[in-house]
Amino acid sequence: MPESSRKPVLVTCGLPYANGTAHIGHLRTYIPADIFVRSLRKKGIEVTFVCGSDTHGTPIVVNAEELGITPKELVEMYHKHFDETFKQLGIYFDAFGTTDDPENHNRTLDIVNKMIEKGYVYPKTIEIAYCPKCNRFLPDRYVEGSCPYCGETARGDECDQGCGKHLEPGELQNPICAICSGPAEYRQQEHFFFKLSEFSDYLMDYLSNDLGGTTNARNYALGWVKQGLTDWCITRNLEWGIKFPGHEDLVVYVWVDAPIGYIAFTEEWAAKVGDSWEKYWKNDGEIVHFIGGDITYHHCIFWPAMLKGAGYSVPTAVVASGMVKIEDKKFSKTRGYVVWVGEDYLDQGFHPDLLRYYLASYTSHTKELNFSWHVLQEKINTELVAVLGNFLYRTILFASKNYGKVPEGELEPEVKEEIEKAINGVKVAIADYEFKKAVDAAMALASLGNSYFQAQAPWKLVKEDKAACGNVLYNCLHISKALGIIFEPVIPQTMERAWKQLGQEEDLHTVQYSEALVPIKAGTKLAKPEILFTKLEDDLIGKMEEIANQRIKAANAKKYIGKGSEKEPSKSEGMLSAEEATKLEKKNS
Ligand code: 2FM
Ligand code: ZN
Repeated sequence: MPESSRKPVLVTCGLPYANGTAHIGHLRTYIPADIFVRSLRKKGIEVTFVCGSDTHGTPIVVNAEELGITPKELVEMYHKHFDETFKQLGIYFDAFGTTDDPENHNRTLDIVNKMIEKGYVYPKTIEIAYCPKCNRFLPDRYVEGSCPYCGETARGDECDQGCGKHLEPGELQNPICAICSGPAEYRQQEHFFFKLSEFSDYLMDYLSNDLGGTTNARNYALGWVKQGLTDWCITRNLEWGIKFPGHEDLVVYVWVDAPIGYIAFTEEWAAKVGDSWEKYWKNDGEIVHFIGGDITYHHCIFWPAMLKGAGYSVPTAVVASGMVKIEDKKFSKTRGYVVWVGEDYLDQGFHPDLLRYYLASYTSHTKELNFSWHVLQEKINTELVAVLGNFLYRTILFASKNYGKVPEGELEPEVKEEIEKAINGVKVAIADYEFKKAVDAAMALASLGNSYFQAQAPWKLVKEDKAACGNVLYNCLHISKALGIIFEPVIPQTMERAWKQLGQEEDLHTVQYSEALVPIKAGTKLAKPEILFTKLEDDLIGKMEEIANQRIKAANAKKYIGKGSEKEPSKSEGMLSAEEATKLEKKNS
C-alpha cells in the first residue's frame, strides 16, 4: 500500500498547564511530536496536529489566588506564552486552544452525560477535607498531610514526597489546609465516581493487542491493570472548571476535561478548515498521543476507558518520552535544575534548531535525556557545524564560485543508492519513534557527502577538467538537496535557508521525501552561500553555565533561610517569575 493511502493521522501533545513558563522538560514531548508530524507529511500522509493549554485544576486556582488575580487572567497569560514559544521553536499546531474554550465545555458535557446514560457513573458519599477557618472544601493540592501508605508528607491527590501513589479524596491523614496552614477536618460529601473497574478486561485486551506507540507506556499500563483498577472520583469542589451536570457546586476533575481537549481542539481545527473531527474520534482515523512518561496512567487507563464508555474512538498509539535531567541532576525547579526556554535559551540568542537537534538526537525517545550546556556545545560543533554545515557550505560555495548555477551532470548510481538508504533509515526510525536513529541515518548521508567531496578533490579537478568537476559538484548539490528534505523535520528553519541557497523554489515544508530522489535540475541559479551553523564558543557556554550555577546557589540559599519549600512541585506547579507577577499585579491594582 503506498504510504499516502494510509489513514489520516491525528497527532496530539500532552497539554501544558497554563500556570508556568515553558521549560526544556516540556520540549522533550513537543519537539519529537513536531518532527513526527513533519515526517508524516513528507511521506504524503494527511496529518492534523493539535494541542492547547490545560487551564483547570486546583494548582491554577491556588496560584491565581496567591497572585490576587482570577484563574482566567492567569491562564490567558500563560496560554499566550505557550502559543508564542511553540511558534518560535518552529512547532506549528493546526489548532492550539484551551480547555476552557466553549468547544471543550460542550464536548466534556457530552462525554460525561454519555457515561452517565450508560450507567458508568454513580454517586457516593465520601469524606472530604474541609477547612473550618477558610470555610471551604479542600480538593487535591489545597490539602496536605501524611500518606496513609508510607507516612511521608503528601498532598491530597498524590504522595509526592514518598511512595508516589495516587491518593483518592479522604485518604490523606492529619490533613492541613494548604491556604491557611490550619488543621482541616473531614466532612461527608457526595461525589461522583466513574466505574473504571468495569473496564479491566477491555483495557487488558486493548493494551495487549491494539495500542501502538512506545512499549514503556503499554507495559506500565498493563502492569497497573493487572494490579486491579479501582473506581475513580471524577468530581471536585471548585468554582473554576467545567460544571458537573446538574450540580452547580461541583466541577469535573481536571483529568476528565483535559484529554477531552484533544477532541475539542480537533473540532476547532475542523470548523476552521471545513473538515471533519469525526473522522478521527468517531471513525477509523489514527490517533497518536505524544506525552511525558509521567502521565501514562491518565492516557493509557483513564482516557481509553472514558472514550470507550462514551462511544468514541480510542487512541491508536501513545508515545511516552523519558524524563529530562539537567547537568546530570534530577530536573527540579525549586533546586534550580531547570532550563527555561525563553530566559535561558531563546532570549540568549540561541537558534531554536540547535535545541531541536539536541533533543532529537541525544538519546532514544523513551530514555532519560540529559541536558548539559557543554554537551550542547560539543554536539553542535562536531555534528551540525563540522559535518552537515561544512558539507552544505563548501558545496554551495564551490559551485557558486566556479559555476554560479547547478552545473551539468548525472546522478551517480552509488550516490542515489546512499540517498535511498538514508531516506529509508529515517522513515523506519521515525515510524518506530526512534528519533535519534533517524538523525543518525540523515547525518550519515552528510558524512558521505563530505567524504565524496574530499575524495574527488574538486579544487584540483576544476583546473584539469571543468566538466568532470561539474559532475562532482552536480552530485554534491543533489546530496545537498536531499539533505535539505531529509533534515527539514528536525531543523526546519535552517534547512529552509539551505534550500533557498540551492535555488529551490518549492516550499520545502511541503516537499515530500520522494523528491529527494528526483535529480537536481542543471542550470538552477544558486543563491549567495551563507554559513548555516556557527560554532558555539567557550565564552558563551561558560556564561550559560555560570547562570545555571547562580540559579542553583540562589535556590539553595532560599531553602536555607527557610523561605523556599523543599518539596519539589510537579511541572503543574510552575509559578510566575517575579517580573510576570509584578506585571500582573500592576495590571490588577
Ligand atoms: O501533566 C500535565 O502537564 C497535564 N497538563 C497534561 C494534560 S494532557 C491531556 F490529558 F490533556
Ligand atoms: Zn506514600
